[in-house]
Amino acid sequence: MLSFGGFRRRSFIIRALERDDCARVSELHEESFARPWSEDEFDALVTQSTVFGYVAVPEGRLKAKAEGFVLARLAAGEAEILTISVSRSCRRRGLGRDLMDATLRHLHHERAEALFLEVDENNVAALALYRRLGFQKVGERPDYYGEGQARRSNALVMRRDLHPRQG
Ligand SMILES: CC(C)(COP(=O)(O)OP(=O)(O)OC[C@H]1O[C@@H](n2cnc3c(N)ncnc32)[C@H](O)[C@@H]1OP(=O)(O)O)[C@@H](O)C(=O)NCCC(=O)NCCS
Repeated sequence: MLSFGGFRRRSFIIRALERDDCARVSELHEESFARPWSEDEFDALVTQSTVFGYVAVPEGRLKAKAEGFVLARLAAGEAEILTISVSRSCRRRGLGRDLMDATLRHLHHERAEALFLEVDENNVAALALYRRLGFQKVGERPDYYGEGQARRSNALVMRRDLHPRQG
């Protein structure tokens, strides 16, 4: 378990996401995305052997609610971020970065080769986070986000190398 904190702010631990977290994770997802995923949808993902995740929970409170989570899938050496969200009240405190760091450590441990994700080209916060972590744009899906809206936006496909191939 990771523990981190700072002056005049709550400390959080990052721990593995479990099935019992799905209800709270679904709430956090709804807070951030126009098309929320239900508790059952998260449960169906979390029970897959290729899927793993982490939650950020306030330290020292037994029943404390998670304030952020990340969900990822690893198959055949390549991984993808399925979704990541931090509650509005806890953003810009390093939780997103720490959740991504936990995911990267997990993947290094599993000797994965690359981590992919898709992000709305207009998502300033997520793009800044991913670029700081070394992700680079490798593709684009035109008009991917904003179904049913007059203005749609492109998805950027981003990749971060994890283990350089030997030989
Ligand atoms: C993207 C998200 C997960 C970031 O979580 P967070 O906990 O606020 O991010 P952090 O505090 O760890 O920020 C890490 C770095 O990302 C960048 N960043 C984060 N939010 C930013 C913002 N609003 N504007 C500019 N840069 C930002 C900064 O470089 C920041 O480092 P700094 O605070 O030292 O400057 C959060 O904004 C969120 O949940 N957004 C809604 C859901 C979403 O868009 N998910 C991604 C879909 S692809």
